[in-house]
Amino acid sequence: MRFFAPLSVVALALTSITAFVQTPTVAKAQSAAPEAAAQTPPMGWNSWNYFAERVTDKDIRAAADQLVSTGMKDAGYIYVNIDDTWEGERDANGVLHTNSKFPDMKALADYVHSKGLKIGIYSGPGTKTCGGYVASLGHEEQDAKMYAEWGFDYLKYDLCSFIPDVMEKQAPHDKAEQMRIMEAAYVKMGKALKATGRPIVFSLCQYGWDAPWEWAPALGGNLWRTTDDVQANWRSIYAIISQQDGLQKYAGPGHWNDPDMLEVGNGKLTLAENRTHFSMWAMLAAPLLAGNDLTAMKPEVTAILTNRDVIAIDQDRLGKQGKRAYSDGEVEVWTRPLAGGALAVAIVNVAENDRLASHPFHLDLAKLGLHGPQAGKDLWTGKAITLTEGQAIELPGHDVLLVRIASPK
Ligand code: GLA
Repeated sequence: MRFFAPLSVVALALTSITAFVQTPTVAKAQSAAPEAAAQTPPMGWNSWNYFAERVTDKDIRAAADQLVSTGMKDAGYIYVNIDDTWEGERDANGVLHTNSKFPDMKALADYVHSKGLKIGIYSGPGTKTCGGYVASLGHEEQDAKMYAEWGFDYLKYDLCSFIPDVMEKQAPHDKAEQMRIMEAAYVKMGKALKATGRPIVFSLCQYGWDAPWEWAPALGGNLWRTTDDVQANWRSIYAIISQQDGLQKYAGPGHWNDPDMLEVGNGKLTLAENRTHFSMWAMLAAPLLAGNDLTAMKPEVTAILTNRDVIAIDQDRLGKQGKRAYSDGEVEVWTRPLAGGALAVAIVNVAENDRLASHPFHLDLAKLGLHGPQAGKDLWTGKAITLTEGQAIELPGHDVLLVRIASPK
C-alpha cells in the first residue's frame, strides 16, 4: 500500500539498533500519559488500511456517517483517524497547509464532532512522513497547536524519515545516542500536545523496533506499535499474533501495545480469519481501529466488528493483556484475565493450510490453571458452552473458539 516504501528505506538503518535495548534516559524526566486518555484501548477507524494515499475529506465524512449508521459508534468506535497524505506545504511562517484532498480541516473536524465522534491526525518527527509528505521536524509546537485548534483528539506520530534525516546524521556511529535522539523527539511532541491543554491521544509508530514497550509508556505514549505494518492476509495476522506473547506485562490503562490496525473486512480474509483476527486483538487488549471501507461493508463483517461480547473483552476495565497459555501442534490456547475474576479463553487453529478440523485437539484445562467443567459463553454463537477436561474441539482452519468464563474454577 505504501508508495514511498519507507520501511524498506529505513529498515537497513535500524537493523543494527534493534540488536540492543537501551535504558531510557530522556524518558525518566517525562511524566506518564494524561490520566484520562485511553483508559481502555482506543476504538475507531483509520483511513490507511483501505484508502492509503487515496483518502479524501469525503471519505472521512463518509466513515463518520457509517460509524453512526452501522451501529459501530454505539458499540464503542469513537475515533475517526486520518492517516498519512493529508499534508500540503509549509508557508513562509512555517504553517503547514493541507493538500487539495482536505480543503478545510477545521470544518472536517467539526463535522466528525457533530456526529458525537472524535477525530485523529497523523504526522512524524522527521522531515517527511512515511508517504513522503511534509512532517513535523522543527515545527512540533506549531503543529501541535494547529491540531488542537482544528479540534483533533488523537495523533499518530510515525518515525520513518527521522532515522536517516536526524538520528543517523547526528550520531552516525552511536546507536545509544540515536536512541536518545529518538526518545527526545517523541518527548518533544508529547510535551507540545500536552501544552495545548487539549486531551490528545498520543500514538507512537515505529514498527515495534527497539522494544518500544520498554520506553514508550514513560515518554507519554498511550499506545505504541509492536510490529511492522499489518497486511490483509492470514500470514501477516498470525505473524503479528505470534509476536505479542510476552508483551502482556507492558499494557494497562492509558498505555497499550498496538499490534497495528484492523484488517477485518479487507483483502481476501475469510470469515474465520476475520473472526480470529478480531478475537485475538480483543485478547491482546489492542486498539480496535477498523481499517475497511465502511461504505461497502458486508453485514457479516459488520456483525464481527460490532460483536459486543468480543468488544467487552477488548475493553475490559482491568486492562490486562492476554497471553498464550500453551500450544499443541496446530492449535494455540490463549487466556486473558478479566475484571471480577472472569477469564477469556481463545482456542485457535493456526494451521498453515486450510484443512477442516485438522487434528483431534483435546483441551488441557489444567494448563490453563482450571479444574473440572467450566461453564461459559461462546462469544461467536452467543450460546452457553461448558469446557471440560480432555474435550475434543474441532476447529476449521484459522478459526477460533472464544469463550468467556464468568467464574473460572
Ligand atoms: C507507515 C505506518 C502505517 C501508515 C503509513 C503511512 O508505514 O506504519 O501504519 O501510517 O506509514 O504512510
